Amino acid sequence: MCGITGFIGYENAAPLLIRALKKLEYRGYDSAGIAVIHDKKIIVRKMKGRINLLEESLLENPLDGYTGIGHTRWATHGEPSDINSHPHTDSDGRIAIVHNGIVENYIKLKQWLQSRGIVFRSDTDTEVIAHIINYFYRKGHGSLLQSVIEALKLLNGSYALAVICADYPDRIIAARKDSPLIAATGGAGSFLASDITALLEFTRDVYFLNDGEIAVLYQDHIELRNDEGDLIQRETTHIDWSVESAEKNGFPHFMLKEIFEQPKSLENALRPRLKKDIIDFEEIKFDKKWLEARRIVIIACGTAYHAAVIGKYAFEYFARIPVEVDIASEYRYRNPIFNKNDIYIAISQSGETADTLAAVRLIKQNGGCVIAITNAPGSTLSREANEIIYTYAGPEIAVASTKAFTSQVMCIYLLALELGRARSYIPDTKKYTDELCEIPDRIRKILDKKEIIQRFASRQYNKTKMLFMGRQFDYPVSMESALKLKEISYTHSEAFAAGELKHGPIALIDSSTLVISFATQTALFEKMASNILEVCSRGAASLVITWEGGGFFDALNSEVFTLPKSEDCFSPMLAVIPAQLFSYYCAVQRGNDPDKPRNLAKSVTVE
Ligand code: F6R
Repeated sequence: MCGITGFIGYENAAPLLIRALKKLEYRGYDSAGIAVIHDKKIIVRKMKGRINLLEESLLENPLDGYTGIGHTRWATHGEPSDINSHPHTDSDGRIAIVHNGIVENYIKLKQWLQSRGIVFRSDTDTEVIAHIINYFYRKGHGSLLQSVIEALKLLNGSYALAVICADYPDRIIAARKDSPLIAATGGAGSFLASDITALLEFTRDVYFLNDGEIAVLYQDHIELRNDEGDLIQRETTHIDWSVESAEKNGFPHFMLKEIFEQPKSLENALRPRLKKDIIDFEEIKFDKKWLEARRIVIIACGTAYHAAVIGKYAFEYFARIPVEVDIASEYRYRNPIFNKNDIYIAISQSGETADTLAAVRLIKQNGGCVIAITNAPGSTLSREANEIIYTYAGPEIAVASTKAFTSQVMCIYLLALELGRARSYIPDTKKYTDELCEIPDRIRKILDKKEIIQRFASRQYNKTKMLFMGRQFDYPVSMESALKLKEISYTHSEAFAAGELKHGPIALIDSSTLVISFATQTALFEKMASNILEVCSRGAASLVITWEGGGFFDALNSEVFTLPKSEDCFSPMLAVIPAQLFSYYCAVQRGNDPDKPRNLAKSVTVE
């Protein structure tokens, strides 16, 4: 949530900060701002609204200076407004900061500062940091670095922050705790960002800051220090994501581009793990722990949680092992039972989700080993987990997750199949891996029919209630589809297991309702047909997503969208595609920006 950027170098900072901020806009977009050091003074430009407003104002009234910091905000403390936008400055206007995260003890700190005569301008927690740094700076704590170190000691909560000071135009000081921060030197100078995508066009060799670390950026180099200010030596990490992977490449939105990238992203998830039809996860040890495990516990949030639920079905189906799936925010607070014979899996696209990380830490404190499934190299999760499976989906920029979800699901299927083989439930995985290899082409065929979904959305987008139902593997796909739709179209949508229809949801059905049914579990076709008849006969509009060929659902009073036939157990990766397209086209029809839905931000780094 929120995006941070910083630049110090041989070019004017403002245009570079804006370029980098645009790459981070998906992290928050209710306001934006930059601060630049010009002529030994700090000049701040910030405003409510999207970054292009700030950019326009800078074009009209440019800012010169080679050192600067920038921020795109997702409001937590204080409404989106010009005043609450970052950067924030101290009372002397000599220190400016941008901050991601939450200062949990800010009220106490604010009262203390107010008692010393400090007048606050904003409602944010961030402003206290600027004043505290100034407090130590004035007290003569030697240097800016030392003042920042002293200030950090007073903060509870999470932060990624960047600080500039008019008296030190030759440096930017950055620090992190529980919120990502990346620093790099290359070409025009040194850069700072809360996300790799902002740096891709400048350099690929980056330092990932660890919790408690401080980076001091100079024009031509970066010093890493610990929380006492001692120097640390670290190699840079090379990132091989391409610049284009973070561009729209002719698509009107990142979300549509990412939906269309799925054949490729799934190949990327699959190929490195298949060696001549044999599943081979080089990155994890399929040791005794897996063979003797009594239970698998999977934790995640949001869309990743839906991938986890598919994981439950897949592990139980292929490897006959009990699986417990939990939403990370519930898991961390519900006093869960730990067992050393359990396998713990955490799924997170960003690897920075606060609740997921807290659950991982809890598991590790209780002696568990955590396997991470993540898309983000260098993320906190990838550094804290015991073993990592990368999804290799490439950067996902749209707030609504699409390709990351299917890649997570692909990795889970591979794991479940390999575990099923290792535990002797599947004598030969070839039949299944052959099918998995077909999935990318089958998705291409579905994408070729995108106009069918587009037309359907243009007829249905105004429905006030949209419900999704399915059984077995179709149930988590229904959950994911309902989430996607509500996130970007703001339509009230719900998912339920089709067997639950008569236990409550049927009360919602009337002519203002659209019901989308997933029917890919062949053994349950008749049950699904009854459910679909029940909703149609109560006046709901209906769409069935099912396999091509059979015609089983043709006689119902429902539209039918067909998927190329695959094994029923692999249907989620196919069935979710028309649902993703449907959400996208409904959002566009409603005039929403699908990439930047209201109130949401990519990567929920605070609780
Ligand atoms: C939905 C969505 C969110 C995320 C959730 C977890 O489209 O993007 O529900 O899935 O915030 O995020 P990660 O996977 O980064 O932990």
